Amino acid sequence: MSYRIAPSILSANFARLGEEVESVVAAGADLVHFDVMDNHYVPNLTIGPLVCEAIRPLVKVPIDVHLMVRPVDRIVPDFAKAGANIISFHPEASDHVDRTIGLIREQGCKAGLVLNPATPLSHLDHVMEKLDLILIMSVNPGFGGQQFIAGALRKLAAVRERVRAAGRDIWVEVDGGIKVENIGDAARAGADTFVAGSAIFGSKDFKATITAMRAELAKV
Ligand code: DX5
Ligand code: ZN
Repeated sequence: MSYRIAPSILSANFARLGEEVESVVAAGADLVHFDVMDNHYVPNLTIGPLVCEAIRPLVKVPIDVHLMVRPVDRIVPDFAKAGANIISFHPEASDHVDRTIGLIREQGCKAGLVLNPATPLSHLDHVMEKLDLILIMSVNPGFGGQQFIAGALRKLAAVRERVRAAGRDIWVEVDGGIKVENIGDAARAGADTFVAGSAIFGSKDFKATITAMRAELAKV
């Protein structure tokens, strides 16, 4: 199993975002997780395609855009043009989930579906063959620094089983409350891609934190 660590820049210092992105990649990040919030679908407002475009030339790693916006489709091409590599969205935020997945892929990006803590796995039923990534929320979306909801572990295990049955290389990502202390549990449950915001950007030494996370993953 190859594991990927995706620091969420939601917890970065926005006054010097470019430097933060460069240093987290230098510290060993595999992806840059980019949280987009609209103050409608979630009660917070963050960053959009202009910021994605601004950080794109600074790093080579994929930019993993997590859309927490409604509607979804209008903004997808903007993120593709801004250099996003992966675009994930919540099924509740799209009227036509299959169409949105198709749109993301037509734009040349990998497509992900995000399931909130109370969102059932049945949303995956008819779209597994079109997904590149499934993101399991282990907090309710909207804010960094929340506590990991333990029920996400059972859900990760169920998603991993579905991915195995589908026989395709679909990434299983977990987002919310991931730290050095619980990243191993999330990996054992079935996650292969780990978003961590406050645990990395809130630490003094990004490299030490990412290295400690990898050491936990090596024990799995
Ligand atoms: C929450 C976001 C997360 C958030 C994670 O809505 O999707 O990506 O930044 O932050 P931590 O790791 O602090 O829970
Ligand atoms: Zn996120």
